[in-house]
Amino acid sequence: MNRIAPSILSMDFLDLRKGLETLNEFGVDVLHLDIMDGAFVPNISFGPCVIKSLSKAFDGLLEAHLMIETPENYIEDFVKAGCNRIIVHAESTKHLHRLIQQIKSLGVQAGIAINPATPLSVLEEIVSEIDLILFMSVNPGFGGQSFIQSVGEKIKKAQNFKKINKNLIFEVDGGVNQSNIKEIFSLGIDLAVMGSAIFNKNDVAQNLELIQKEIKCQ
Ligand code: DX5
Ligand code: ZN
Repeated sequence: MNRIAPSILSMDFLDLRKGLETLNEFGVDVLHLDIMDGAFVPNISFGPCVIKSLSKAFDGLLEAHLMIETPENYIEDFVKAGCNRIIVHAESTKHLHRLIQQIKSLGVQAGIAINPATPLSVLEEIVSEIDLILFMSVNPGFGGQSFIQSVGEKIKKAQNFKKINKNLIFEVDGGVNQSNIKEIFSLGIDLAVMGSAIFNKNDVAQNLELIQKEIKCQ
């Protein structure tokens, strides 16, 4: 399943190893790690020490979504913990170009996340230097929220960026579930983060089967 990036934020951490094994069995190849510091967002999640452990149990790419102040100070720790892609918020730094250069100098992919109210214009000067744009379709800080419809228009408008950077990955984050995923992909999205739709109720395999049917992915 190469079009979804499960977020473990909503999972029962007592089931972490089992959950990751199920993701491996389904061929999920990106794991979305929501890092929260209680300052940039009103919630606290986990850090590099947890990632170091789970990197031993997940076969795919680890992407850290840094919802933290002063990300510059922590990039290296997340790469050392095993992250292959670092996504930072445009709203979390004064020097976005320098931050992207810092991430790329560590040999990992660089992504920029933008909150629902942040305009595409903040990306215009940097879009040719990054690997991924993360469109926040909820206000960051919590799983289980509803998809903010206005972000759909933003994603459609952003398609022009792919003419500048052909390899750019468009990822959406927040409120994606079995009932809206097909419509969201039709907006021009390559990858969808899914947290509560996979980990909140029923069992992970059952939820993944439902999603697989919806997007008919291998
Ligand atoms: C929110 C996080 C999202 C969230 C997704 O701040 O960035 O990744 O965990 O969870 P769902 O899919 O439940 O909206
Ligand atoms: Zn996220």
